Amino acid sequence: LQNGLALTPPMGWLTWQRFRCITNCQKYPSECISEDLIKRTADIMLSEGYLDAGYNYVGIDDCWLEKTRDKRNRLVPDRERFPNGMKAIGDYLHNKGFKFALYQDYGNKTCMGYPGVLGYEAIDVQTFAEWDVDYIKLDGCYVDISKMDTGYPYFGKLMNESGRPMVYSCSWPAYQKKPDYDSIAEHCNLWRNWDDIQDSWSSLSSIMTWFAENQDTIAQYAGPGRWNDPDMLIIGNFGLSLDQAKVQMAIWSILAAPLFMSVDLATIRPEFKEILLNRDIIAIDQDSLGKQGLRVWNKSMTEIWSRELSDGSYAVAFVNRRDDGTPTVMKASFEVMNLPEQTYKVQDLYKEDEDRFFGPDGEFYTRVNPSGVKYFKFVPKISNDVEEKTYFTS
Ligand code: DGJ
Repeated sequence: LQNGLALTPPMGWLTWQRFRCITNCQKYPSECISEDLIKRTADIMLSEGYLDAGYNYVGIDDCWLEKTRDKRNRLVPDRERFPNGMKAIGDYLHNKGFKFALYQDYGNKTCMGYPGVLGYEAIDVQTFAEWDVDYIKLDGCYVDISKMDTGYPYFGKLMNESGRPMVYSCSWPAYQKKPDYDSIAEHCNLWRNWDDIQDSWSSLSSIMTWFAENQDTIAQYAGPGRWNDPDMLIIGNFGLSLDQAKVQMAIWSILAAPLFMSVDLATIRPEFKEILLNRDIIAIDQDSLGKQGLRVWNKSMTEIWSRELSDGSYAVAFVNRRDDGTPTVMKASFEVMNLPEQTYKVQDLYKEDEDRFFGPDGEFYTRVNPSGVKYFKFVPKISNDVEEKTYFTS
């Protein structure tokens, strides 16, 4: 959607993946979807460098509403959990330098059964604008799927007419068998293509497989203002090992994916935090060219993913999906990695290996942990680079 927003993939934090629909604040005071959770998270994002790193949207997903609208048919935030209303949340976030993301659903109800926008689209857009919302995620539960192709653009038109710039995140294709991506990319800033992510390696793996197998259909639609969305980052939660978390961050950045963390930032372990705050990888995700990378090679449970960057560099991820217990040596030619033949300075984005030079011919070797990744930036060598080390073998 060319509305001047989301020129790079949006980044931030969203409640759903980690906090789901926890509404009992007596029992789960630090986890329930509430004003406290949002403020606490924003405070940490500011004081611990997440905002500085680019994570600037703070978002409330499903389960923020009262079950009924007010007398004027307006949406009402849960009175106990959001006692000061949503404008107060917007103000709090804006004062700290964040932007405010909020969830709704195009249907009669949200997926968790709260009132949806259908029949009240204009009132709801108006309300969101009054609350100073900057980003709307519009889900697709309880919708007649055949109506999505007109309904989502209609809601987007209302957003545009509201006069408030709001990023439009659509779940439209995730619910359809054959999405019309031309229309989706014209009307949405980002869109969820497929299944929800769950807190496991198998879920992460299945999403990677889906994005690889459908890349010929979807990758061409990504670019400034319009992004495919493989769903939230699960890094720092219960289900991923450190190596697996590195895989998600690497592949999401190759995919030019929106980077929405969904994790308890008060308790996240430092080694996972470090992955989320990896500036070099974030810079790849946010590369101004906005060209989505591809899986360029796939054999015997090992894969190579490659993305071209605006400065002539390439980000290349070697993923090992095997779980047989010992690192696997992977070998790749220029052709396999989708790289022009020249000499590169190769930087390990997780700083596990030392920088090295590679090219202008030969094969690149690396050794990748089970369910892990090696992630490199191949920077074309400039003449005054000193070739301290050149290796062609492992
Ligand atoms: C389905 C969406 O895909 C999820 O990301 C989340 O928003 C839930 N619905 C909320 O009910």
